[in-house]
Amino acid sequence: MSERRAICPGSFDPITLGHIDIITRAAAMFDKITVVVMKNANKNSGSFTPEERKAFIEKTVGNIKNVEVDIYDGLLADYARQKNACAIIKGLRAMSDFEYEFQMALTNKKLNPEVETIFLTTSTENMYLSSSMVKQIASMGGDISSFVPEEILEEIIKRLKK
Ligand code: PNS
Repeated sequence: MSERRAICPGSFDPITLGHIDIITRAAAMFDKITVVVMKNANKNSGSFTPEERKAFIEKTVGNIKNVEVDIYDGLLADYARQKNACAIIKGLRAMSDFEYEFQMALTNKKLNPEVETIFLTTSTENMYLSSSMVKQIASMGGDISSFVPEEILEEIIKRLKK
């Protein structure tokens, strides 16, 4: 049987413990996971460059042997085709995520019928965790140690503290 590859896409600005939970669980379900830093047209250019985000991801999940990290500036449906992926994995937090994620999943299915979107429910402790919340707390000198991995904590604090 051919290798079953899934894509974990996101803006990852920066990666949080919530993302890591989803990536780790996805890695246990597929032969290969590609975590890809992409642009979200509804968000501004962000606090970290795509290269910085990729480096943060590599530092935290790079030790999982079937996980690779990439950057792509284009449509997710095209990227999934290029990578011959059978699935796109997204984490679902509260119901507020649902409508937007549902719309993206249906659109991606239209653009690339070969790929399924699979939603993993977030762990309860990450239910309200988001990169934008982490950035806001860090910029005001708050404690983000329970939201981001230890390996990148200091770098994030240094960069975001005003
Ligand atoms: O972490 P995010 O911001 O929720 O991730 C959203 C992301 C980057 C996965 C989404 O915006 C995306 O797929 N961007 C790539 C461009 C694209 O394919 N847009 C059409 C989606 S229907």
